[in-house]
Amino acid sequence: MSAPNKSYDPVEVEALKPEEVARMRDEALAAVAAAADLEALREVKTAHTGDRSPLALANREIGALPPHAKADAGKRVGQARGAVNQALKARQVELEAERDARVLVEEAVDVTLPYDRTPPGARHPLTTLAERIADVFVAMGYEVAEGPEVEAEWFNFDALNFLPDHPARTMQDTFFVAGPGGEAESGVVLRTHTSPVQARSMIDREPPVYIVCPGRVFRTDELDATHTPVFHQIELLAIDEGLTMADLKGTLDHMVQALFGEGLRTRLRPSYFPFTEPSAEMDMECFVCHGESVGDPDRPCRTCSSEGWIELGGCGMVNPRVLTACGIDPEKYSGFAFGFGIERMLMFRHNVEDMRDMVEGDVRFALPFGMEI
Ligand code: PHE
Repeated sequence: MSAPNKSYDPVEVEALKPEEVARMRDEALAAVAAAADLEALREVKTAHTGDRSPLALANREIGALPPHAKADAGKRVGQARGAVNQALKARQVELEAERDARVLVEEAVDVTLPYDRTPPGARHPLTTLAERIADVFVAMGYEVAEGPEVEAEWFNFDALNFLPDHPARTMQDTFFVAGPGGEAESGVVLRTHTSPVQARSMIDREPPVYIVCPGRVFRTDELDATHTPVFHQIELLAIDEGLTMADLKGTLDHMVQALFGEGLRTRLRPSYFPFTEPSAEMDMECFVCHGESVGDPDRPCRTCSSEGWIELGGCGMVNPRVLTACGIDPEKYSGFAFGFGIERMLMFRHNVEDMRDMVEGDVRFALPFGMEI
């Protein structure tokens, strides 16, 4: 730095010579123009406007000039610095705009692309409905029981009091499993109902017995809109001291109300099953029309075909012969059982019109039912 000097000639101070100031300015302007991105521009800014930049250093020399020279040099340096700052600002705006445009292109999201190539599936509605029904009984203290789908004829028929010539045993209804030598009389069938689990549960446990059993069953039906050779049932069995048909009725009422709504009634119609005595068909009041469609042609009900009642399945008091066959003393214990098809319930509960939709495995059928667990 120069010392104050009266005879100091500003033109002699190298850094303040007009052509030198112009050179510094032009160098800075060229650097600004050449800055290719914001990062480079930041460096140019430090180099050409920072404390140690040539123009800042030149500016410091002004203080040492004699008063008459200060204004002139100050103006020159000030204008040069102003020009550089302005150029920096302009370039900054330009480079920011360039960056924004580039980000828009580079980071663009194609919203038409599939957002997920492995979409979530859905649980099969038969599974969720079976679980929902079983839950109603689990909440009452029942235990979920299981049995084999390939079942001994004895459990499927004999233990349940089907006589040897009962028509259900014929080839028309039952899939018989061939024995190891191919013989037809293997004594093994694909279970035709979940009732053999009644017998298994009574043999396995000491009374009282309270079990609910959802399961797959098989009959020699052709697949069409209302039949399928493989379908599902829910079986219920309660064995205790002093159980009566009133307990059966109360249990059915509770189940129907838990699944379809408060206040719905059930009714029993006399029927016959070898393993229950007395036996009944159970119906539930239509949960859609509550019977109001009956006899009113202006208000037909699809769900109950304007019958007012929907048939659910079979039930009754466990036949004492079954209790005896399963080692339970019919003098001490009594019980009730019921069973019904889950496919049928899914159909009337959700207006499913074709049973084939349930077995074909197309996920589009299951998706609207969701992932309910
Ligand atoms: N197992 C019978 C059927 O498949 C239903 C049933 C179960 C009936 C329990 C009475 C008691 O039709």
